Parts: sequence; structure tokens; C-alpha cells
Amino acid sequence: MSIPRLHPDTIDQVKQRADIVDVISERVVLRKRGKDYLGLCPFHEEKTPSFSVSPSKQMYYCFGCGAGGTAINFLMEVGKQSFSEVVLDLARRYQVPVQTLEPEQRQQLQRQLSLLDQLYEILALAAAFYQHALFAPQGQQALLYLQSERRLSQETIQQFQLGYAPLGWEIIYRYLVEQKNKPVQLVEQAGLILPRRNGDGYYDRFRDRLMIPIHDTQGRTIGFGGRALGDEQPKYLNSPETPLFNKGKTLFALDKARDAISKQDQAVVVEGYFDAIALHAAGIGNVVASLGTALSLDQVRQLLRYTESKQIILNFDADKAGTTATERAIGEIADLAYKGQVQLRVLNLPEGKDADEFLKGHSDGTQNYRQLLETAPLWLNWQIDQLASDRKLKDAFQFQQVADQMLKLLIQLEDSPQRSHYITYCAQILSQGDSRLVSMHASNLLAQLKKLRLRLQKKEEKPKAQPSQHTSQNPSQLPFLASSERSLLEKAEKLLLCIYLHYPEYRQTIIDALEEQDLLFSLSHHRFLWQKILELQPVLQESSGTPDPLISLLQDCTIIFPNEMAQVVHLFHGDDKLQEEIVRAPLLIRSAIACLERVSCEKHRRYCWEEWQKLDLIADAQRKQYYSQQICEADRRIKELDQLRQLHLSDLLENALR
Ligand code: UTP
Ligand code: MN
Repeated sequence: MSIPRLHPDTIDQVKQRADIVDVISERVVLRKRGKDYLGLCPFHEEKTPSFSVSPSKQMYYCFGCGAGGTAINFLMEVGKQSFSEVVLDLARRYQVPVQTLEPEQRQQLQRQLSLLDQLYEILALAAAFYQHALFAPQGQQALLYLQSERRLSQETIQQFQLGYAPLGWEIIYRYLVEQKNKPVQLVEQAGLILPRRNGDGYYDRFRDRLMIPIHDTQGRTIGFGGRALGDEQPKYLNSPETPLFNKGKTLFALDKARDAISKQDQAVVVEGYFDAIALHAAGIGNVVASLGTALSLDQVRQLLRYTESKQIILNFDADKAGTTATERAIGEIADLAYKGQVQLRVLNLPEGKDADEFLKGHSDGTQNYRQLLETAPLWLNWQIDQLASDRKLKDAFQFQQVADQMLKLLIQLEDSPQRSHYITYCAQILSQGDSRLVSMHASNLLAQLKKLRLRLQKKEEKPKAQPSQHTSQNPSQLPFLASSERSLLEKAEKLLLCIYLHYPEYRQTIIDALEEQDLLFSLSHHRFLWQKILELQPVLQESSGTPDPLISLLQDCTIIFPNEMAQVVHLFHGDDKLQEEIVRAPLLIRSAIACLERVSCEKHRRYCWEEWQKLDLIADAQRKQYYSQQICEADRRIKELDQLRQLHLSDLLENALR
């Protein structure tokens, strides 16, 4: 849709309603300092905060780089959007009625806005229907399950608006479409019904399931989690991504937890719906649940808005999956945590229990849980503990491995009392109970840290300088890539994989483009996924059925290769943003390929440079000449590719994937 010219009244109203602290805190972790808020400037690299936001003036200003303006300027800058685009987004978010200068566009806009309103209404109707059904005769078994197996009170059932989706294929369909006259396409868009395969009518997505509504922060229903009452699979069936529901951006129970999070100045994140519900029921209200996906930075920032001292405690299951989820969440937040922008702690409950089981198993569960929250280790301690757990430190090889991994964590900390603290902590573990050894191990660690630091500094000082020795060509380490390059490359690879997975019509294009130039994925987990995709190709060609079976076949791989696949499973879920951008697929693919090619060029250039250096100017004149030509050629191509990227990548790639 082209962007309409907005009526000045609309612009004024948006300016009045959009609070700058609200808007900016979605992107920047802000802390209150006097009347204003302070954070790390998103427009330049900095380690101490100089980015200030004034609620009274409704302006931001960075003392470091001079960036400044209103909420609208901020969004224009970070999102690379036009004034009108930003105002429109804000109008939607703050429910400002939009008036435009042209009447026909106004109608179009109204239609778009009313689509969302109608979806809200449909979901609200469905929630009420399910709630009602829970207390009807057909819901008896579900109600019994809640009361006896989950031990939930009437009050909690009401508070969370729990419900029951009756057994039957067209129950909600008939209710919404036939009784309430809701347009069938909208009911489908709301994620409640699915078209039958033979194209003849629709059927209910949720059948004979306990229904847990998911709300946005304003308490509106935006989706559902549906739990099986027995052992049916899947255990939880969730709403698909819809215009209202984005799993990666939503936290379950945040609407109910907001106030408690502010009051207790701390937020707890658990894994399961029922962990959150059980904790709320037990009087611990500052709890939200991630929705079965990895906790994203977006979700963390949302939480941080409500806690002044930025305390977050991750209480995931202590099993393998939970530990992986914790590690991934830490990975997402580590940057903030190292900079001291969030105080992250990790709670693993005893005996590998989840919160729900823990509360059920203790007569004084609430008190005990609170106590455990208080003593939960800081994330770095937890990570260090993880490194050493299950390792035999008596074994020299394993000992060295653990020590090396410790160094990798420690090197990220600035010189500080905090770092000394962690060095001692590691040294204690390495000493295996012999306190006489602690200071020796500590000084060893410190010496190695200094060495490592020095080596890193040297690399930074002369980034183009020849590498010290011919290291093996392990592409997953990509030592020659700056971190911004690396993140761009990662995006490019992700983009290719996502398009490949979700848009079969572009598969051949991608394969051709990669083969034509002999390009490889550089990140090892992407390479692994690609390998699996290629292996599955013959299987796929045989079964040309719809729906496309690729993703479900890959899901099976996750069982055999859980570790390798853990880093890529998130790609199996579609991406809204990508769906919007997919009309530009050929361009996206070309840009992403350019990115991969650049890496391959760099690698080749580096190799030639190393060879060139080894050769003697006179004795090997010819070969020396050859390599120097290769280097020039690579430089030329890199420049070309950079131009390609300048044209497309910054706005395309950055936009296409979150
Ligand atoms: P768990 O399998 O740990 O669920 O998944 P749980 O909370 O212990 O389940 P109960 O107590 O047996 O009911 C944790 C979360 O992962 C998501 C859900 O959000 C669930 O709460 N999940 C799990 C799904 O989305 N689908 C599934 O099939 C399983
Ligand atoms: Mn559970």
C-alpha cells in the first residue's frame, strides 16, 4: 500500500499519545536517572551510557554522538522509515484513528485497521466460548483435570480465563461463522480453523483440548495454547502466527505479571504455561512464560521495561532441553549482561523439576521457591558451573578443555574486581577441593588471559596484517571477519535457508546460485542444515505431495542430531517479516549470495596473500606474479560485491529477517 498523506490532526494526536520512554525502551535498555532516563546509545558504539531520554520534554539526546529528536525521529532513524510510515505504525499501536487527506486511501486504511479489530473480536468470542464450554457437561473431564491433576482453584481458572475446546470438527467453526456471522476468512486468519485438504469447507484447529488464552500486554486475547488432556501429540498445540500473534515477541502472562514485576523489581521467566499459572496461583506474580521458543532479545527488552534494577531470573527446566534453552537465552542477552545492562540469574530447581512440579511436591512450596529465587546464581557462575559439570577434571585432557572454555568466558569481562572474582571462582573449581592450589590456578588463568588479550589487541591494531601462521581453513571460525561482517553473513545465510525452507518455488534458484559459484555456508550449523537438506532431496523428489514435507523431515533429524540442529530449528518456523518481503525474493537471494561470495573471495585472497609471502621475488617470480594478480582480482571483486551490498543489503537483509 502506498503511504497516504496524513491529516495534521492525526499527526498531533500521535505525538501526544506516543510516549517517548515507552517507544525507546523497546530498543534501548533505559534506567531512571533523576527526571530522565539513561541508556547505551543505539547510534554509536559505547560502553558507558550517554544516551538520555527526557519524558518531560519528550525528546532524546546522545551526549556522545549528538543524535537527538522526538519519538518519531527515533523510530525513523532506527527503522529507516519515512515520517508517515512511523506515524501510521504509532497510530495503530496507540489506537489513534487515522485521517488522511485523500478519501479513497482513508477507506483502505480503515479496512486495514478494522481487520485487526475484527480479529480481536473473533478471538475474544472464541475465548468466551471455550470458557463457557469448560463448565458445560462436555467440559467435565477437562475441568476435573484442572481441579485434581493441576490443583487449580476456581479463582485461578477464572483469572487465566482457561477453557475447553470441545470434541468435534466444526464446533468453533459453526459458532463463529454460522451463529455469529463472522467472515470465514477472518476466522481462518485468527488461526481457529483450517481449510480442509479437499478444498471443501473448514475444520477446527483445536479439538478436545484445554484452552489457555494468550493475551497481549493490554489483556486482549491474541492466541491460544491448547493442551491435550491425555497423551495425544502434540502435547501443546498453539495458535499459528497471525497478524495479532507473534510468538517470538509475546510472553505468556505478561499482562498479569506487569505490576508484580515493577513492585518486586524483578522478573522470572519460566518455560511452561502451567509453570507460570502455578506460580501465580501460589502468590508469586512476577512470572511470565516464554512460548516454547527460545527467549528472544525482544522479549527480554519488554521485561526490562518494568524492572528498575533490570533483574531477570531464568527458571527453565533442568533437563537437557531446558539447559539448551537457558544457554540460548543467555546467548541472546549476553551482550547486555556483559555490559551490566541486565542482572541475569539462573535458577535450576532441585531434582530437575519444573516450577509446577516443585510447587506440587512441597508443602511449603511458595516459601521455598522464593528462597531459591533469592539464592539463584548469577548467569556467569551458572555457565561456569555448567562447563565443569559432568567433566572429569582428573583427566588432563578434559581439565585443559574446561580451563580453555573458562578463559573464553573470562576474556569477555573487562578488567575489574568482578573479573578477579570470577577468576578465583574458576580457580576454585579447577582446584577440585584442594585449597592450596587455588592461587596457583588463579595466577595461571590470569597470565593466560593477559596473553590472549595481547594477541587480540595486536589483531585489532593491524587488521589487514598477515596472520601469524597458516591456520587451518576452518570456515566456522572466520577469523578475518569483523563482527559486523559476520552478523551480516549470518543474516544472509539465514535468509537463504529460510527462503529455501518456506518458499519451495525458489529452491532451484538458490541451489543454482550456490552451485554456480561453488559457494558454501560458512557458519557450521548452517552448513550442517544445508547438508541435511541436500541429503533429503532425493526423498523429496519422490513425494511431490502437499504440504511440502521438507520441514517435517528435518524435524525428524533433530531427534538424531539434537545438538547440531538446536541452533537452526528456529528457522523452521516461518517469519512474518520475510513473508512481507518475499515479493522481492530474487533480489534478496542475489544480495545474500553476494554476501556469501564476499566471504569466499576474502578467504581466497587471504590464501593467495599467504602463498605470495612465502615466495621468493626472483626465484619464484612467475608464481609470485600469479598470486599478486589473484589478489588484485579478488580486491576488485570484493569492491564490486560491496557496492552490490551497499545497494541492497543494508535495507533489504536487515529488514527481511528479525
Ligand atoms: P514442557 O513440555 O516442558 O511443558 O513444554 P510443561 O509445562 O512441563 O507441560 P505440562 O506440565 O506437562 O503440561 C514447555 C512449554 O513449551 C511449549 C509450551 O509453551 C509449553 O508450556 N510446548 C511444549 C509447545 O508449544 N508444544 C509442545 O508440544 C510442547
Ligand atoms: Mn510442567
